[in-house]
Amino acid sequence: MTTKQTVLQELPADLDRDRLPKHVAVIMDGNGRWAKRQGLPRILGHRRGVDALKELLRCCRDWGIKALTAYAFSTENWGRPLEEVDFLMTLFERVLRQELDEMIRENVRIKFVGNLLALPSSLQAEISRAVEATRNNPGIQFTVATNYGGRQEILQACRAIAFQVQQGLIQPEEIDEALFESHLYTAGISDPDLLIRTSGEMRISNFLLWQVAYSELYITDILWPDFDREAFHLALRAYQQRDRRFGKIAKG
Ligand code: IPE
Ligand code: IPE
Ligand code: MG
Repeated sequence: MTTKQTVLQELPADLDRDRLPKHVAVIMDGNGRWAKRQGLPRILGHRRGVDALKELLRCCRDWGIKALTAYAFSTENWGRPLEEVDFLMTLFERVLRQELDEMIRENVRIKFVGNLLALPSSLQAEISRAVEATRNNPGIQFTVATNYGGRQEILQACRAIAFQVQQGLIQPEEIDEALFESHLYTAGISDPDLLIRTSGEMRISNFLLWQVAYSELYITDILWPDFDREAFHLALRAYQQRDRRFGKIAKG
């Protein structure tokens, strides 16, 4: 750990503790480019990306942020070369196994969102184990989007609601935002206040389409493996300078 990171163990003095985002979501992009710049194979970028995520989770805990959601694998990422997909699935499984004890110790409550049934069965088993073991933990809500697609999430919610209507359990007029949200993978988790994307890409890439309706967007050129506490500090500072109007007019 660098000296700078040690200094940032506590919430930086220029941040207002009372105006921190409750929920931060991250599109962890740029692992491949990070590796390429170092002349390394892409998979090593993914490995370093895990270290960056572990550090961000710790940082959220240290600074008092209640929920973190990370985009780990999109429904579109199956289109990558087989070796890369295989490496990622094995990596997720290994990291989960290795980190579970620490997550339990740190009171992390982990959840996975996405179409989990399409994941390798050994990964599904590791996911179930981790979710079960941390279910009642009172600490940070850590959500990992794996085989996640925002459109797919919305469609599966529509199907479930249509089925309930067909069964006569609810009337179409009863479908409101609260009911709809209760059928999303993220049911029970507040919408992200801040959405961070690394590596400079200015797009959402099918992430949390419903939930980011009023999130503040922050895009940095930093590649994901280099996203450290200082980079997060800058993102939070930018967030605290925003005026979240939600369609109303500016205060004062
Ligand atoms: C993000 O990094 C990780 C995943 C999508 C799994 P990338 O692998 O997309 O890295 P770039 O965008 O190719 O640099
Ligand atoms: C988004 O990154 C998905 C994840 C970070 C898991 P991608 O690298 O897949 O996004 P695109 O292809 O640049 O839109
Ligand atoms: Mg990418």
